[in-house]
Amino acid sequence: MNDIQGSYNAAATDYHAILRDYHRADPFEKGALDYFCQLVTDGPVGDLGCGTGRITTYLAGRGMDVFGVDLTPGMIEVARREYPELRFEVGSLYDLDLKDGELAGALAWYSLVHTPREDLPAVYAELFRVLRPGGHLVHGFKVGAGSRHLSTGYGHDIDLEVYMYDVADVAGLLASAGFAEVATLTRAALPGEKDAGQAALIVRKPATP
Ligand SMILES: C[S@@+](CC[C@H](N)C(=O)[O-])C[C@H]1O[C@@H](n2cnc3c(N)ncnc32)[C@H](O)[C@@H]1O
Repeated sequence: MNDIQGSYNAAATDYHAILRDYHRADPFEKGALDYFCQLVTDGPVGDLGCGTGRITTYLAGRGMDVFGVDLTPGMIEVARREYPELRFEVGSLYDLDLKDGELAGALAWYSLVHTPREDLPAVYAELFRVLRPGGHLVHGFKVGAGSRHLSTGYGHDIDLEVYMYDVADVAGLLASAGFAEVATLTRAALPGEKDAGQAALIVRKPATP
C-alpha cells in the first residue's frame, strides 16, 4: 500500500521537528537550492509538495515570491502554523490549481518520492503547463531502481512506498515533456543510506516552443 496522506498526517509534527533545518547544513540540498535561486530572479515560485514548508521558508528568505502546495492536509497545517507569513494550500501535483504559464519557478523537492515511475510523464506535463516560457523546475529525488516499503518513520507507524529513479531515465522523461536541461547535481550514498544516492535536476521550459 501507499497511504501518503494518512502517513504524513500522522507524522507531520515530528517530520518537521526532524527535518526543518536539514537543508541549511546539507551541501547537496543547499547547493542545488541555491543554484535554483540564482536562476529564478523574478516571478512566482511554487514549492509543489512542500511538506511542512522548510524549503518554502528557505526560498522566501532568499527573496523569492514563493508559496507551498501539498497533498497532505496535516503537513499544510504545520506549515501554516510554523510560517504564518507564507501561503500554503492543499493540492496535488497531478492537477494543480494554477493557470497555464503562471510560475517563474517550480520545485518538486522529494515530493515525487512516493510516485511510481509510470506516473512521472503526467506530472511532468502538469509542471510544464504551469511554468511560463523560460521558467525553471528543480526536481530532487532518490537515485536507484524500484521501490521499498516503509512501515515506520519519523517515530510513527506509516505506510509509504518510496520510489528511486535512474538519473538518465528522469532526464529523458523531462526532455520528452519538453524541458531543456540546465544542470544536474548528484551525490553518492552516505554511509548507512539505503538509496544509491541523491539527484537534483534543474530544467527550463524553453522560451520559444
Ligand atoms: C518526503 S516529503 C517532502 C516534503 C518537502 N518537499 C521537503 O523537502 O521537506 C513528501 C511530501 O510530498 C507530498 N506529496 C506526495 N505526493 C504528492 C502529490 N501528488 N501532490 C502533492 N504533494 C504530494 C507529501 O504529502 C509529503 O508532504
